Amino acid sequence: MASRSILILAGDGIGPEVMREVKRVILWFSEQCGIDFTVSEGLVGGAAYDAYGTPLHDDTLDQAREADAILLGAAGAPKYDALPFEVKPERGLLKLRKELDLYANLRPAICFEALADYSSLKKEFVSGLDLMIVRELTSGVYFGEPRGIFDLKDGEREGINTQRYTTNEIRRVARSAFELARQRQNRVCSMEKANVMESGVLWREEVEWVGDNEYPDVELSHMYADAGAMQLVRKPKQFDVIVTDNLFGDILSDAAAMLTGSLGMLPSASLGEQMEAGWPRALYEPVHGSAPDITGQDKANPCACILSFAMAMHYSFDMGAEAKRLSDAVEATLAAGIRTPDLLQLPGESPASTTLMGDAILRELDHSLAYN
Ligand code: IPM
Ligand code: MG
Repeated sequence: MASRSILILAGDGIGPEVMREVKRVILWFSEQCGIDFTVSEGLVGGAAYDAYGTPLHDDTLDQAREADAILLGAAGAPKYDALPFEVKPERGLLKLRKELDLYANLRPAICFEALADYSSLKKEFVSGLDLMIVRELTSGVYFGEPRGIFDLKDGEREGINTQRYTTNEIRRVARSAFELARQRQNRVCSMEKANVMESGVLWREEVEWVGDNEYPDVELSHMYADAGAMQLVRKPKQFDVIVTDNLFGDILSDAAAMLTGSLGMLPSASLGEQMEAGWPRALYEPVHGSAPDITGQDKANPCACILSFAMAMHYSFDMGAEAKRLSDAVEATLAAGIRTPDLLQLPGESPASTTLMGDAILRELDHSLAYN
C-alpha cells in the first residue's frame, strides 16, 4: 500500500497537547497495523504569526496542498486579540479552508453511552444520539464582499458583512449531505432563514432541486434555523443529517456538541473535491478550539482530536475498520471511567490528565489486538 501523507498543524493553545496524543495513536497504527503514514509538521495560527508574521505561510499552504490529509489542532489565543483582522490566528484556518476549497464540514454529534449522564439535557433525550451536521464552509457571510468597518459622517461608523451564496455552492454541499444520509437513516433536514433572507430562499430552492432531481429516495425536510436550534435542544434524536450554511452551521454545531456531554468530544472533517488519488481534499480538526484557560496544564480532552484522526482514516484513507477500532477504543476508555476535567461532573470521579487519557486509549487499542 502506498504511503499516506499527513500534515500536522498543531497550532495554538491546547492544540499541541491534544495533537501529541494523536501522534502516539498514529505511531501505534504504523507499528501495530503496518500502515505506512508519512507525517510532516507545520505552523498555523498564532504559532505561525510568531514565526513568520502571518497566520499561514505560503510554504505551509503548499505543503497542505500536497498532503493526503491535514490534521489541525486549534488556532487562536488571547494575546493575539489586538492584531489586525488579516493576521489574526483564525485567518490562518479560514484561509486553509478557502484556498483548499473545503466546502463540506462534517460535524458528527454522537453521544457515547458512557457520557449520556454528562449532557446538559436529560439522559433519555441524548442516549443513542447520532446526528451529523453538514456545514457549508467556504462561502456565506464568512467570506462575502463587501465587508469592513466604514466611516460615516458625524463620527458614526458601520460594520458590513455580506451573506451570499450561489447555486453551485449550495448544490455541492447539499449533495454531500444527501450522500451521507444514504449511508445513515436516509433523512436530510436543511436549515436557513428563508422567511427573512433572499440567500435563504435560494438555499431552500437549490437544496430542494438537488433532492428532487438527484436524491428522490432521501427524505428531505426544511426548517428555519432558529426553529432548528430550538428542536436541537428539544428533541435532538429527530435529526439524521442537518445541512446548513456557514454561520448557522457554526452556531448549531456548538449547540449540538453540548448534547454529547462536552465540546471536548467532537471531531470534524472538512472535505473538498476529489484529488488525483481519488480521495477528497481534507482537513480534520476538533471542534473545541484553543481553550486558553487550560492551555499547558495537561488537562485538555484529547478525544476530539483523536476522533478527528479516526475520521481521517475513514474519509481519506478508506480504513473503515481501523477508524472503528480507534473510536471503539475511545468509547471503552470512557466506559472504564477515565475522564478529563471537562467531563468530570459525577460525584466520586477524579480527573485524568491529557497524557493519562492518551495512555488509556493506547491500552484499549492494544486490547483490541489481543481479542481479535
Ligand atoms: C469553528 C470555529 C471557527 C469558525 C473560528 C475559530 C474561525 O468557531 O470551526 O467552528 O468560526 O468557523
Ligand atoms: Mg465554531
